[in-house]
Amino acid sequence: MRISAIIDEKEKRIAITPETAKKYINLGFEVVVPQNIGASAGFCDDEYLAIGASIGKEKSVPEADLYLCVKPSFEKELKIKSGSYLIALLSSFQNKKVLEQMKKNGINLCALEKIPRITRAQSMDVLSSQASIAGYRAVLEALIEYRRVVPLMMTAAGTVRPAKVLILGAGVAGLQAVATAKRLGAVVSVFDVRSVVKEQVESLGATFVKVENTNDGETSGGYAKEMDDDYKKRQAEKLSQAISKMDIVITTAQIPGKPAPRLVTKEMVRSMPAGAVIVDMSTEIGGNCELSEKDKIVRTEKVVIIGYADLAARVAHDSSQLFARNMFNFVSLMVKDGKINDSDEIIQATMEI
Ligand code: NAI
Repeated sequence: MRISAIIDEKEKRIAITPETAKKYINLGFEVVVPQNIGASAGFCDDEYLAIGASIGKEKSVPEADLYLCVKPSFEKELKIKSGSYLIALLSSFQNKKVLEQMKKNGINLCALEKIPRITRAQSMDVLSSQASIAGYRAVLEALIEYRRVVPLMMTAAGTVRPAKVLILGAGVAGLQAVATAKRLGAVVSVFDVRSVVKEQVESLGATFVKVENTNDGETSGGYAKEMDDDYKKRQAEKLSQAISKMDIVITTAQIPGKPAPRLVTKEMVRSMPAGAVIVDMSTEIGGNCELSEKDKIVRTEKVVIIGYADLAARVAHDSSQLFARNMFNFVSLMVKDGKINDSDEIIQATMEI
């Protein structure tokens, strides 16, 4: 069985690294990757050739049974073999039309964002691996714009106070942002609607800011639910007080299947100290901050607001390594003894498009 990859001009990450190409070959796959597949992520064609993969012809998509990709932009329909499988983050809701057309053309689609978040699927969970890297990178992006140092510094010229960082949402990305900011010496506090994360936040040395609430904000699936108006009002009051003292705010709040909750208003931004930086990690789904813009930096008189939606891709080498390993674990579940078996509930969930 032949496996290949699709590269997208808009995406720096790749779905087959030399490491996973070797693993596929060991399992009996033939691997043919497009020329320069890894250029944007710091891998070169020679590394693929060295482990026994082949390189396709210039600018052509090699013929294959399985096509792996990180996130096609679908600027044009992908012309791949009928009967083949395309496995990627497909953003199936936004790309409904083009995906329906591809299905009509006989292409089988697996949307990795639909992998159920069950223990057995953890090793395939691309959302978690990419969110981890994105949470780390969000802190670094903030520091590029932040004009001060982060840790407490005691020097002969005087003391520099540590930066105050607020993280909104302590899921996978938020917890990684907490850990990164703590490692740099910041004083970190965290808001989340799910009180279960309090312990995780505190174990990283950060402070959990609690909004009094009678119902917890967690669903039985472990995700956040949309809160009622009374909670939103109390949260906004607490946030307003906290935000006005913050140097850096990183927002990661998401509610599955809904637009991102609007947590940081214009007024809150205005109340922040001059030189403060906000990184909104939810701009892809509408943003947590009223002033953020997807993939842009917005500069107000006092505050810089970063809205990059490609944070994981900004660390393309390591995010590709993790993505490609998740992908390998998925493909090894799907292909047994050279034959595709898509009956497993994990595979089935990704095919419900
Ligand atoms: P996410 O990306 O859906 O949301 C990010 C965070 O925003 C969550 O912590 C959420 O509670 C918070 N949030 C939502 N609305 C908010 C609001 N109004 N104010 C403040 N915070 C708000 O979350 P992610 O990172 O996908 O993880 C969600 C849960 O799923 C976590 O408990 C995580 O541990 C769990 N999980 C389980 C996995 C497994 O068992 N395979 C894999 C990955 C995550």
